[in-house]
Amino acid sequence: MIKNERALGVNTGVNIGVNMEVTLKVDIKETPSNSYPIYINNDDLKDLKTKLDDETKNKKRLVIFSEKVYKLYGKILGFEKSEIFVLKDGEKEKNIKNFEKIIKKAISLKLSRKDIIIAIGGGVVGDMAGFAAASYMRGIDFIQVPTTLLACVDSSVGGKTAIDMPNGKNFVGAFYQPKAVYINTNFLKTLDEKQYQSGFGEVIKYAFIEKSCNADENYDLLSYLEINREKYLTRDFEFLTNVIKICLKLKSAVVSQDEKEKGLRKILNLGHTFGHALEEETKYKRFTHGYCVVLGLMYVFNYALKNNLCEKNYYDEAFTLMSIYGYEIPKFWFINKKRTLNYMKTDKKSDGENITFILPTKQGEVIEQTGKNIEFDLEYKQ
Ligand code: GLY
Repeated sequence: MIKNERALGVNTGVNIGVNMEVTLKVDIKETPSNSYPIYINNDDLKDLKTKLDDETKNKKRLVIFSEKVYKLYGKILGFEKSEIFVLKDGEKEKNIKNFEKIIKKAISLKLSRKDIIIAIGGGVVGDMAGFAAASYMRGIDFIQVPTTLLACVDSSVGGKTAIDMPNGKNFVGAFYQPKAVYINTNFLKTLDEKQYQSGFGEVIKYAFIEKSCNADENYDLLSYLEINREKYLTRDFEFLTNVIKICLKLKSAVVSQDEKEKGLRKILNLGHTFGHALEEETKYKRFTHGYCVVLGLMYVFNYALKNNLCEKNYYDEAFTLMSIYGYEIPKFWFINKKRTLNYMKTDKKSDGENITFILPTKQGEVIEQTGKNIEFDLEYKQ
């Protein structure tokens, strides 16, 4: 249930006006030289281009665009045709063949270690471009320009770069931080409904891990989402900017403490063990990534409730939130349980035998649990 009295204490930080730029910093404690800024604004896209030109002055560039974004914004952004590589949209494109094509393009442009790759698109482009940058000549700089909500709130920050392999999503990759992340919320205006909702899958995840992130401030993202559902529906600019900012402050806090997922960072995978398995089982066709994450959240909330790890009140509040953001409990008759379980066993957090889950306990808090016999229950019961 929505708790109004708690919602009064919501702290969204700086109030973002219509033309205000926010700069955050990802401070990597272990390797300070890997730290970088995140710029969030709604500048004219021509100004974004000017900033990218300034940042990449005297460098050769390879600009990797998502096809959709290129069609919509390629002209306005005005990069030279010769420096552009356009990647088709969809998780299926995050494969080794496209990786090879990108590397060949970098070779044909004669990029050196002093040059740079720019990723303009959603998670697929960001992950691929980042992995190409990490691998080309053992590493050249890259910049993230996320254009989907999901990439803005999660995948463009934190340096996870990868391609998919037939046996698993993000199976080959590297931790490789960008030099900067430029978020321009104007891109979100043309995001289709499915992709918009998908982004909120990751946002909702942050609401359930907020306290465990150990950030300096308390945002109460859960209440903020509960009371602002109308603004979600109208894509209110200030609301979206605040949501992006809160998620990235939480993510930066985690990445700053644990860049390479040795411990704390695993909490960012809440909902992903089952979510990824579901994406693989449904061949990336049936649901978006964010939708799978939310189904994964439902899965872990069910598990936590059954095992007395969380209380029914919190469980109900979580399911209400997911439902008011349009997430429905599907019928899982189309899933092969054995195969899905195997996908979970090959998840990078698992060891092939035991499955590691991040599980919700109290509001904003999660714990890690590993076990061989984690019960596999696809029948959601409320
Ligand atoms: N998307 C999870 C992470 O960046 O660790």
